[in-house]
Amino acid sequence: MRFRGLTVSFLFFSYLLLCSCQSSNRSGLGHILTKAMFEKMIPHANTDSCRAKGFYTYEAFIAAAKSYPAFATTGSHEIRKREVAAFLGQTSFQTTGEPWLPPDPYHWGYYYKKEENPPTDYCQPNPRYPCAAGRNYCGRGPMQLSWNHNYGKFGETIGRKKELLENPDLLIKNVTMAFEAAIWFWMTPQPPKPSCHDVIIGKWHGDEEGRLPGYGEISNIIGPGCGIGADVRVRDRMEYYTRYCDMLGVGYGENIACYSQKPYGNAL
Ligand SMILES: *[C@@H]1O[C@H](CO)[C@@H](O)[C@H](O)[C@H]1NC(C)=O
Ligand SMILES: *[C@@H]1O[C@H](CO)[C@@H](O)[C@H](O)[C@H]1NC(C)=O
Repeated sequence: MRFRGLTVSFLFFSYLLLCSCQSSNRSGLGHILTKAMFEKMIPHANTDSCRAKGFYTYEAFIAAAKSYPAFATTGSHEIRKREVAAFLGQTSFQTTGEPWLPPDPYHWGYYYKKEENPPTDYCQPNPRYPCAAGRNYCGRGPMQLSWNHNYGKFGETIGRKKELLENPDLLIKNVTMAFEAAIWFWMTPQPPKPSCHDVIIGKWHGDEEGRLPGYGEISNIIGPGCGIGADVRVRDRMEYYTRYCDMLGVGYGENIACYSQKPYGNAL
């Protein structure tokens, strides 16, 4: 009896311990980024001048991050802040409308939720992730997830592959799912590229082709624009990032540009 009581309390306390670990881990993003800060970073995102008006919310970002417990919770406080700045920097560039308009350059992230006038249907023949007739797998959500294979792979991870391939617009009907797709892309390596997450937390150390760890490598993963000298796309990705680093009070880390870094064959 006594033995069983001990076992039960042991299990109970282990459970408590596990729960408290998980909850502190899960609220990680909220510790780094407050709602006030998020709204200061993208002040136009919910105004009339913005195409995505009312779509991107802080609450959805926090909720989506819970599905990826290592996001913004790995490494020192400084690294966690840098990961949030880098994620928002890249996604702001991906979704921007008017990135450099005075008087407030780089305040125009999260302008679009869906790519307008896509030049292609972003469909590549793929037996595992087949395109549905008449659908366009153009950029949607914070990362502007593109291509049928990305919709399919992300769909698989949430158990909705068929639905998403048949109706890619689902991604912009549910903002939590839209943020999940963006964080999924961020966390998931697509060889030969490392994951954006592994780069920003310092787990990836460069490769044989001379690519170096730092924010510039993440611009290269999402691309295009690296390896061709001073490119405005690369510059703008950096400008968003450095603005957010400054706001969060964290240094930029090394190699934030990729002007002379060998590009990958395919961008997002
Ligand atoms: C949070 O969880 C992830 C994945 O389970 C883990 O890799 C990370 O180290 C955790 N962070 C903390 C602070 O416990
Ligand atoms: C929206 O997406 C989230 C995350 O994938 C999911 O948990 C939720 O059920 C979705 N809501 C609807 C109405 O489909």
